[in-house]
Amino acid sequence: MENSNFLWGNSVSSMQTEGAWDKDGKGPSVYDVRKATPETSDWKDGIDEYHRYEEDFDLMKNAGMNCYRFQVSWSRVMPTGDGSINQKGLDYYERFVDELLKRDMIPVICLYHFDMPLALAKKYNGFVNDHVRNAFVRFSKIVIDKLASKVKYWIPFNEQNCTMFEEGFQNSGYLQGDKTIEDQYKIATNSLIAYAEVTDYVHKFDGLQIGGMVAYQEMYPNSMKTRDVMVTRKANEFINNDFLSLFATGKRSAEVIQYMKNNGMTTLVQKLNKVTEKLTNIKSDFLAFSYYYSLVIDSTRIQQDVAPNYYMSQGKVLNPNLETSEYGWQIDADGFRNSITEMSDRFGLPIFSVENGIGAKEEWDGQNQIDDDYRIQYHKEHIQAMKDAIQIDGAQVMGYLGWGLIDIPSSAGNMEKRYGLVYVNRGNHELRDLRRVPKKSYYWFKKMIAQEKF
Ligand code: BG6
Repeated sequence: MENSNFLWGNSVSSMQTEGAWDKDGKGPSVYDVRKATPETSDWKDGIDEYHRYEEDFDLMKNAGMNCYRFQVSWSRVMPTGDGSINQKGLDYYERFVDELLKRDMIPVICLYHFDMPLALAKKYNGFVNDHVRNAFVRFSKIVIDKLASKVKYWIPFNEQNCTMFEEGFQNSGYLQGDKTIEDQYKIATNSLIAYAEVTDYVHKFDGLQIGGMVAYQEMYPNSMKTRDVMVTRKANEFINNDFLSLFATGKRSAEVIQYMKNNGMTTLVQKLNKVTEKLTNIKSDFLAFSYYYSLVIDSTRIQQDVAPNYYMSQGKVLNPNLETSEYGWQIDADGFRNSITEMSDRFGLPIFSVENGIGAKEEWDGQNQIDDDYRIQYHKEHIQAMKDAIQIDGAQVMGYLGWGLIDIPSSAGNMEKRYGLVYVNRGNHELRDLRRVPKKSYYWFKKMIAQEKF
């Protein structure tokens, strides 16, 4: 089976790559004010891709990649999030896209990767407030207007389902004050309304495609006890299928809607329905997901009466049958195959694997190549699993993007946790020369892309 349109590439966020946090009119985001700790860097420099993107594109191109998924930073384009446009910021992304296109690389734009403009976070506490939702839709439309003629693929939110299962709500831009379950459902509802509005808008442009994205959580019951099986199924419905269902069909999961009604949140159900019934063109063209590990759920660890969207965080235990990375993430390529096949079978849309990889501690000695055989192994097994999903299970897959294939700081800001095929010479507290140095996996990846035909 051959498909020369298969997308191979790299995937990143803006705050983990760009640096230049206050350059050319950019406003601060919630990340820019986070301080360094002994184990993490601050967020001001990233890997300086703002200035070095041409070099990074050359590296990706040379490895045979034909796709780059990146983020347009909200506060670079609109410094306060809801005020005037920073033309320099907008123009920067056009140049960025032009350089990709010059290399025949396909841009995929994500519009929100948790880096809420600081002004909106302070004034409105993030997506819990309708004003922020409207501001995000406005920002999105401005970026789409600017780049629609050059960019086909759009992902409004990174890992949008984190708004449902993350107990601290930090990634939803909800920062201060008491957090209630209703706030969490408000955030989720607002993000889904924004998703619907942005999707409808994208579909006004001929040929553009949009996809909802989740952090897919592959979960196994801890035992044959019926309770373990039931809570795992419920967690799967609340965490994975609910948002995927909205993206694919325009309707949330009936089970989640029932939970909301039973718990005094009928107005939130109605609020979303009002929008989805009015907008006719909100079905996604593809479903995007990140996948790094799988989990096991033990029902005995879950508190009574807790909302099912917390079953995973409360119930998770280690799987004794799997190997674990040095950062505690359990490696499970079969889980990757199951996730792809499950989504493809259930929702009937092309599946786009936009984040996958393994974080490891590596130190370059200034001379010798880093031999990251464990990373080769990880990608090899996962790419084979994806192939099996396509060729044996009949799944429809449009691409495979590795996460942070040129080293970037981790989501916690730790430059020591590296995912790259290319080493970037900086530490948590020293910027050094930021030199890019291919690792052994880079050459393996290049060979693999040249040989694999989907
Ligand atoms: C994803 C996020 O959840 O996981 C990224 O979209 C993040 O921002 C990636 O970097 C890997 O997680 P971590 O914590 O190892 O960086």
